[in-house]
Amino acid sequence: MQIDGMQAVVTGGASGLGEATARMLARAGAQIAIFDMNRVRGEAVAAEIGGSFHAVDVADAASVAAGLNGLSPRICISCAGIAPGAKTVDREGNAHDAALFAKAININLIGTFNVASQCAALMAAQAPLGDDGARGVIINTASVAAFEGQIGQTAYAASKGGVAALTLPMARDLARSGVRVMAIAPGLFLTPMLEGLPQEVQDSLGAQAPFPARLGKPDEYANLVCHIVKSQMLNGEVIRLDAAIRMTPK
Ligand SMILES: NC(=O)c1ccc[n+]([C@@H]2O[C@H](COP(=O)([O-])OP(=O)(O)OC[C@H]3O[C@@H](n4cnc5c(N)ncnc54)[C@H](O)[C@@H]3O)[C@@H](O)[C@H]2O)c1
Repeated sequence: MQIDGMQAVVTGGASGLGEATARMLARAGAQIAIFDMNRVRGEAVAAEIGGSFHAVDVADAASVAAGLNGLSPRICISCAGIAPGAKTVDREGNAHDAALFAKAININLIGTFNVASQCAALMAAQAPLGDDGARGVIINTASVAAFEGQIGQTAYAASKGGVAALTLPMARDLARSGVRVMAIAPGLFLTPMLEGLPQEVQDSLGAQAPFPARLGKPDEYANLVCHIVKSQMLNGEVIRLDAAIRMTPK
């Protein structure tokens, strides 16, 4: 599918991987709708790329529906997410806070599902774009934690495992509508999620990757998004984007 002239919803577009993706898709000619809770950053990015900002909580299906009102997306990118850390039982012997676990699932997994399913309904209602009946593409963001969650990542890993697991069945569900569904599982990328760490910690995290032994750049994530949009045979798969890193327990 071509990018030029298409409407794209990018959740988490106010920061990090989502922001880089919104900017790159806009440079390629897409009309961007940023869905985020960070109004200040979201409005600033949207203004710079000639897009629109929508104050949406992806965990709330009604909020997603309100954000999508009047839009006709062909491209749906979910980058909104949180990465809380907590052990199943902490040093004091307390069990993991159930509300924190639910919050990670609500934003990362149910939020991704809300946006993807509602965008899919809007895509399926539009005319096909080409000879093969393509109507749109959905790209969700999992994590290598879906496969190698570290200590303190039960909630995050479970939420991202869910994002990875729904990729194939959602692609199968939407095949008749000509909508593709993919997921990217990033390794370690230099975004505000990691930028707060001291330089030596960033360097040591980056050095864990076999090659290239550094943190990924948000544009390298955005590049893969653009490639998936354009490559019609990519469907129903989770792609690791991780410089061959395999996360250790901690
Ligand atoms: N940075 C990494 O190394 C890395 C690695 C693997 C996976 N990921 C995943 O990639 C995605 C993007 O991560 P990032 O590093 O760019 O993070 P980030 O913190 O820079 O950006 C996340 C954005 O999501 C928004 N957001 C959070 N909760 C929201 C909600 N309920 N509704 C709408 N927007 C919400 C935030 O306001 C923020 O703008 C996340 O899903 C993250 O889990 C990141």
